Amino acid sequence: MELDSNDLSEFYHRLLSPRVAALVVTLKEDMRPNVMVAAWHTPVSVRPPIVGVCIAPSRLTHLLIHRNREFTLNIPDLSMKDKVEAAGSSSGRDFDKSTLFKFAPSVKIRTPVIEGAIGVVECELGRTIDVGDHSVIFGNVVSCRAKGFWEVWRSESPLLHLGSNFYTVMKEVPLR
Ligand SMILES: Cc1cc2nc3c(=O)[nH]c(=O)nc-3n(C[C@H](O)[C@H](O)[C@H](O)COP(=O)(O)O)c2cc1C
Repeated sequence: MELDSNDLSEFYHRLLSPRVAALVVTLKEDMRPNVMVAAWHTPVSVRPPIVGVCIAPSRLTHLLIHRNREFTLNIPDLSMKDKVEAAGSSSGRDFDKSTLFKFAPSVKIRTPVIEGAIGVVECELGRTIDVGDHSVIFGNVVSCRAKGFWEVWRSESPLLHLGSNFYTVMKEVPLR
């Protein structure tokens, strides 16, 4: 099946899904955490460890990352799906999203992590590159930890975003 050019913008990225629906935590001016969802992210360097997250300039998170120069990425599981959708469908400009989650202190930075997340990555801001309607924000990874990490999510599955309001989870562990 081939898509015409009008459909391309809407669908090309779905062909590259599923993607982990990562929760991006930043700090607001009053020090309350703000949370948005970002499914568009990728590791870009091993040594040093750097992750790239694509965030539209209109998101409050975009402003807060550049103000605080740090953020955390938090990996939800299926039990957090409703909260993920809430964090991804309203802006911290209009709604206090700190009430959606419980938070725990980070190891290396001031921005907290989400309690109950199955994995967390603490980042300090690196470079930002504006590309089309998003910015690629590079985070220098300063700490990370996860439940079941050495078993490659054997007992846990990250919540995976398929595009639009479709999600999935891993049914089986990868074979070695
Ligand atoms: C599953 C899912 C994935 C999303 N991925 C991204 C993304 O990668 N980049 C982005 O800029 N917005 C993404 N969004 C939209 C933001 O999460 C949403 O606009 C959010 O309300 C921004 O919050 P803020 O203004 O408090 O930062 C996603 C939303 C959902 C539900």
